[in-house]
Amino acid sequence: MLRLGRRTRDTQVVDVDIRPVTPAEHRPLGELTAQAYLREGFLGGDQDPYLPFLRDVSGRASSALVLVAVDEDRLLGGVTYVPGPGPMADLAREGEAEIRMLAVDAEARGRGVGEALARACLDQAKAAGVGRVVLSSQTAMRAAHRLYERLGFQRLPERDWSPENKPGLVLVAYALDLDPDLDPGTATR
Ligand SMILES: CC(C)(COP(=O)(O)OP(=O)(O)OC[C@H]1O[C@@H](n2cnc3c(N)ncnc32)[C@H](O)[C@@H]1OP(=O)(O)O)[C@@H](O)C(=O)NCCC(=O)NCCS
Repeated sequence: MLRLGRRTRDTQVVDVDIRPVTPAEHRPLGELTAQAYLREGFLGGDQDPYLPFLRDVSGRASSALVLVAVDEDRLLGGVTYVPGPGPMADLAREGEAEIRMLAVDAEARGRGVGEALARACLDQAKAAGVGRVVLSSQTAMRAAHRLYERLGFQRLPERDWSPENKPGLVLVAYALDLDPDLDPGTATR
């Protein structure tokens, strides 16, 4: 378990634990993730075909590492770290890991929780010796893009793609090349 307590650039303090999700948290994390996307208008309403996947934490925890951010007993957010190509990977190829379904409760945003979750994924990739971390995101997810760019991710337009069931939706790809000699989260440029 990683405990974070640090002062961010605008004096707000991140003080959260980042750890693997427990079975008791599967349902609440699924709902938190679904609501985070729904409330920002990133889905086409409550019949959107992606909603069941966002809610299915048990499903993704069976083939990927699902991490949560908790403040004492309060669930603040979560993320899925996909270690490589496989059932949970949208984008990852050999030698790449992937970050998916990053979400923070609306009331806990702006404290660096999202960044802490993304950094925890980079820690995993670094520990596994993975050379590159990839992710994809909707064009409207601007808070997420600022966060990823702050961590050193760069756009990878040749890997942009559209889900089969939503051909009109373009998901933009990002990548971070990890240098094994540098701290996690530091890009090689
Ligand atoms: C993207 C997301 C995870 C970021 O979570 P977070 O804990 O707010 O992240 P951070 O605090 O590390 O930084 C996020 C940025 O958004 C800003 N922000 C977003 N919501 C905010 C709020 N309600 N209050 C204050 N700042 C907010 C932060 O200040 C920061 O901006 P900056 O980069 O210009 O400094 C969260 O906004 C979210 O769940 N969005 C909906 C789902 C989503 O877009 N997921 C991405 C999938 S690719």
